[in-house]
Amino acid sequence: MRLLGDWLESNSKKFGSRVILAADVTGPYESRVERASELVSLLKERMVAVKVNWHLLLPYGVLGLRELVERCGDAGLPVIADMKLNDIGATNVETAETLFSNGFDALIANPFVGYKGGIDELVSKCREMRKGIVLLVYMSHSGAREGYGLKVGNEPLYLRFARETRRWGADGAIVSSKSPSIIRQVRSVLRKEQVILSPGVGVQGGDARRALKAGSDYVIVGRSITEAKDPSRSVDAINRELAVDTA
Ligand code: C5P
Repeated sequence: MRLLGDWLESNSKKFGSRVILAADVTGPYESRVERASELVSLLKERMVAVKVNWHLLLPYGVLGLRELVERCGDAGLPVIADMKLNDIGATNVETAETLFSNGFDALIANPFVGYKGGIDELVSKCREMRKGIVLLVYMSHSGAREGYGLKVGNEPLYLRFARETRRWGADGAIVSSKSPSIIRQVRSVLRKEQVILSPGVGVQGGDARRALKAGSDYVIVGRSITEAKDPSRSVDAINRELAVDTA
């Protein structure tokens, strides 16, 4: 695939959007994938990518999500698996292979597991399969500070993770939209081509505009869209707020 950042940028220009849909559909398990597919069809020209989390991955697995993933691919949208992958290299590699050979384009991993024998093999696998990897640098719930905000030596853990995102050559970082000052710090560490994806907009209280102003490239939005009476209106409102120039 193209580099994740290039792909997102090209979609952003094409669709005038900086929104990644978190397809976190809840309700009866049997009908979740159908609802997610409807959302993709409805919103495919209003967003830049789709993120899939346990809401779908657990009940369906990658095989049960094949049609959904294909539908996204047909619409030109990368699909990001939000595994927050955090295991030994061999297990990470197996997980990546399973996702990527079933159409997923990128995954999210947790840098906490460390490089040697953890993330190193995963990064190599992603590069070999030409797929994306985004590292979790700062989460969006209040307790994030208890882990990602811990002081390690003189600096908070998230800053170290930001430097590692740069050093390990990941495609980007996840940083909560609710923490613009942390976004700013992470932006100052990352390479220009490394993207910052920011969840937490809407229901969790994050402000999309402030996140982008601080240095985020894209916002990840779930419930404000998936649970809206009119999901298109909800995405359009965020797109208008962020007013991206279309190519
Ligand atoms: O519904 P909402 O917009 O709050 O969904 C945010 C999505 O992003 C969820 O899938 C959540 O698990 C995920 N996420 C997050 N904060 C992070 C990393 C991932 O909210 N730091």
